[in-house]
Amino acid sequence: MKELIEKAEKTHQLSKAEIVLLLENHEIQEELFNAADRVRKEYVGDEVQLRGLIEFSNICKQKCLYCGLRASNKNVNRYRLQPDEIIELARKAKGYGYKTVVLQSGEDDYYTVEKITYIVTEIKKLEMAITLSIGEKTYEEYKAYRDAGADRYLLRIETTDKRLYEDMDPGMNHEDRKRCLEDLKEFGYEVGTGCLVGLPGQTIESLADDILFFKEIDADMIGIGPFIPNNDTPLKHSKGGDFDLSLRVMALTRLLLPDINIPATTAMEVINPQGRIIALKSGANVVMPNVTEGEARKWYALYPGKICVNDTPAHCRGCITGKIKGIGRDVSEGFGFHKKNSES
Ligand code: SAM
Ligand code: SF4
Ligand code: FES
Repeated sequence: MKELIEKAEKTHQLSKAEIVLLLENHEIQEELFNAADRVRKEYVGDEVQLRGLIEFSNICKQKCLYCGLRASNKNVNRYRLQPDEIIELARKAKGYGYKTVVLQSGEDDYYTVEKITYIVTEIKKLEMAITLSIGEKTYEEYKAYRDAGADRYLLRIETTDKRLYEDMDPGMNHEDRKRCLEDLKEFGYEVGTGCLVGLPGQTIESLADDILFFKEIDADMIGIGPFIPNNDTPLKHSKGGDFDLSLRVMALTRLLLPDINIPATTAMEVINPQGRIIALKSGANVVMPNVTEGEARKWYALYPGKICVNDTPAHCRGCITGKIKGIGRDVSEGFGFHKKNSES
């Protein structure tokens, strides 16, 4: 096993069978995490990239079985921020020192191409990098957002197991999801994808496929988080994802894609009170603190136990900076592009 970790650390290549062995092995995981931490340090350094997350609408037309925002959930108060409110949140995020905002929402057709391009154009005037995470769109829509100045796009593949994906996301299809990722690459976005760990019926083999898929599409960013069951969804009785397994998937992703950006995801912290810090010490180099204000923080409820719902954006900024410094790391002053694309 140790040889496998050494091989991954040196060559950044493993076969599917080798990945499966490491994913299954609990005993050696500390060494895996330490190797991922060394590779993170060597390739992307000690600086942690912060991105301010704006959750601007929890209205969604899709019905992903795992997600509290699914269209048929009647137990969530729905909200939509107006374009100028979103721009104002970005302005405030800049005031807290963020250089990037992530604009995330359900799949909400209220936000037409005109609205999104207006928001992107105005935020670009603030000299910030923009990541969009607003779901599946057409080729033309992705092009329009990119032309307006959007820098990055996050769209998790969720799982590379086509059957599982189509069971979990009724009405959606795996080919469409992959087409979206290809289109985004073609337009020159930095592309972020990722997976959920612990979906019902998901196998270790399919998690290994997920990691190989990330490498195959040459992703710029990979977000990995445990699936957390939500009582207001059909998956309320599921077991949910395991913290250590999620961390192993993340650490192996760092070993195989050494220079990409990897966030310490919020979901990691929901199932472990030190989750983001542990992730930062096991291969991650990005954190996305919430900069949404007021009740919306609470109602963007993908899963129960969401962190920071009663905190202010200013408080979170101070809190996360303190935690990062507490482990001897620094907050980056740059825009946090994929190393291969830029130095900032
Ligand atoms: N609607 C867009 C999409 O699906 O790509 C962006 C927003 S969606 C809420 C962002 C991510 O939340 C999804 O990609 C999914 O992986 C994650 N998510 C949804 N429900 C979750 C749950 N119950 N536990 C953990 N993560 C969840
Ligand atoms: Fe909608 Fe995204 Fe949630 Fe699916 S994961 S229901 S697309 S918000
Ligand atoms: Fe929100 Fe710590 S990051 S309270």
